[in-house]
Amino acid sequence: MASAATQGFSVVSKPTKPIEGQKTGTSGLRKKTKVFQSENYLANWIQSLFLALGEEAKGKTIALGGDGRYFNKEAVQIILKLAAGNGLKKVVVGKDAITATPAMSAIIRRRKLYGGLIMSASHNPAGPDEDWGIKFNYSAGEPAPEKITDKIYGFTQSIQELKIADFPDVDLSKLGTTSFGDFEVEVIDYTTDYFDELREVFDFAKLRSFFANPRFSFVYDALHAVTGAYASRLFVDELGASPDALLNCVPKEDFGGGHPDPNLTYAHELVERLFGTDAPDFGAASDGDGDRNMILGRSFFVTPSDSVAVIAANAQAAIPYFSAGLKGVARSMPTSGALDRVAKRLNLPFHETPTGWKFFGNLMDAGQCSICGEESFGTGADHVREKDGLWAVLAWLSILATKNEGRGEGAALVSVRDVVTEHWRTYGRNFYSRYDYEGVESERAEKVMAHLTESVIDTVQPGTELGGRVLETADNFAYTDPIDGSVAKGQGIRVVFRDGSRIIFRLSGTGSAGATIRMYVETYRDDPADFDRDAQDVLAGIIATALELSDLPALTGRDKPTVIT
Ligand code: G6P
Ligand code: ZN
Repeated sequence: MASAATQGFSVVSKPTKPIEGQKTGTSGLRKKTKVFQSENYLANWIQSLFLALGEEAKGKTIALGGDGRYFNKEAVQIILKLAAGNGLKKVVVGKDAITATPAMSAIIRRRKLYGGLIMSASHNPAGPDEDWGIKFNYSAGEPAPEKITDKIYGFTQSIQELKIADFPDVDLSKLGTTSFGDFEVEVIDYTTDYFDELREVFDFAKLRSFFANPRFSFVYDALHAVTGAYASRLFVDELGASPDALLNCVPKEDFGGGHPDPNLTYAHELVERLFGTDAPDFGAASDGDGDRNMILGRSFFVTPSDSVAVIAANAQAAIPYFSAGLKGVARSMPTSGALDRVAKRLNLPFHETPTGWKFFGNLMDAGQCSICGEESFGTGADHVREKDGLWAVLAWLSILATKNEGRGEGAALVSVRDVVTEHWRTYGRNFYSRYDYEGVESERAEKVMAHLTESVIDTVQPGTELGGRVLETADNFAYTDPIDGSVAKGQGIRVVFRDGSRIIFRLSGTGSAGATIRMYVETYRDDPADFDRDAQDVLAGIIATALELSDLPALTGRDKPTVIT
């Protein structure tokens, strides 16, 4: 090993060899924790990142933090030494190596940093036998674009040397700066920049007075993940919620053995509370790294597709950041058309993008999108460049606070259910459901997609009747980014009917074993007599059509999905 002295520390050159399979997706690199713990695995990827960034990163400052999962504490020290060894000037680290994903985006933007690293595998379980992950966000606070992630992958295939600074581990439990020669590590409060950002978006005083309303009750479930480190400071200290309102808000390295994904299946404790006796008025949860959200009312689930539509419809009146109106709205293709109706009525620019938050970034940078959302429990706005779980919760609380403002003593609370029902009365209801077929053999999954292509897209003409509905269009969704002209093809099969109903099939891009087929179905009703009907009941006809057109049961051998949401 060679060693070159710089003031304060030496840089050790440690030989290494390429390791297979370090292909970086836009959510970074995710593998089993044990894989990351194997020799040089993490170091190789981090070194490749710095090689990919090249001269541009030298002398710059980046941020570093994570969702608190197992192995983050070891990983953070490895990353600090590689950062110094590769000529960065400074790393700003969240205390105890904690930083939620949207908070990281806020830190990069507000401090005008070169970028940031997030140690997280999002909503995947954590622990020695579970998952670990790392992702790089760039200067606007957005996930690294493909031109960077492709380069990183390239370097992982040719890497020969790690450049490691030989200083001791840094104590991350205390705020302040440690210097090693010219290199600095500054431990920061991971809430400051993020809360400052949220304070500029929302009216905290108004939210505080809403929390003081004795008729309102609230519960927040962090699923033992990163937002637990923010929840007490935000909801209790800043907004005056009762400490009893916090469920599973002590972050744990293994997320308490749970699956930190805020949905009806995994956030079951919260769901039981909201659907049980003496349920609170409002319940919400966020995922491992704090970017996803789920919103519940008393005995009421707000679908993510409805959530973004309701937030967009009420934003101008309820949220100061949007008081001048919205610049535009966007949703991913499989997300229901509820948002489209809001855009139309409010005369807002509207964009339909492929699945994945990265597609919203350009629209936001170009001032064409203020609020956006995905059916996969992601909702957010242009204050940062990640989806933002706590932002969504505050958006809903702001709407409730506004709707309940100035109502006399004794007036019943305008509830989450009331807000959504009122929305349906104005816009109609997009009944929506997603069927997931997990762990399907990849070949069989491809056959379903091929069958749809051959038997519907290539052969059925618009105007043809299918299952009692008239076909408007059927295609494989392609998106041309209106800002940079880049084209994303093959983003999912869409079968759209004249009555507004849609059937969508796509293969999940995030699964780890086999393929997951996602089937999304939607139909629109504007008769209030239908609004309280069960979605599965209203959708029964379109579901039957979807299964018939795809021939999914025969081609996969599955007579029912793994998960229905
Ligand atoms: C991640 C991304 C989301 C995206 C989701 C899709 O969570 O951050 O933006 O909607 O993956 O997952 P899927 O499994 O449907 O490809
Ligand atoms: Zn996440």
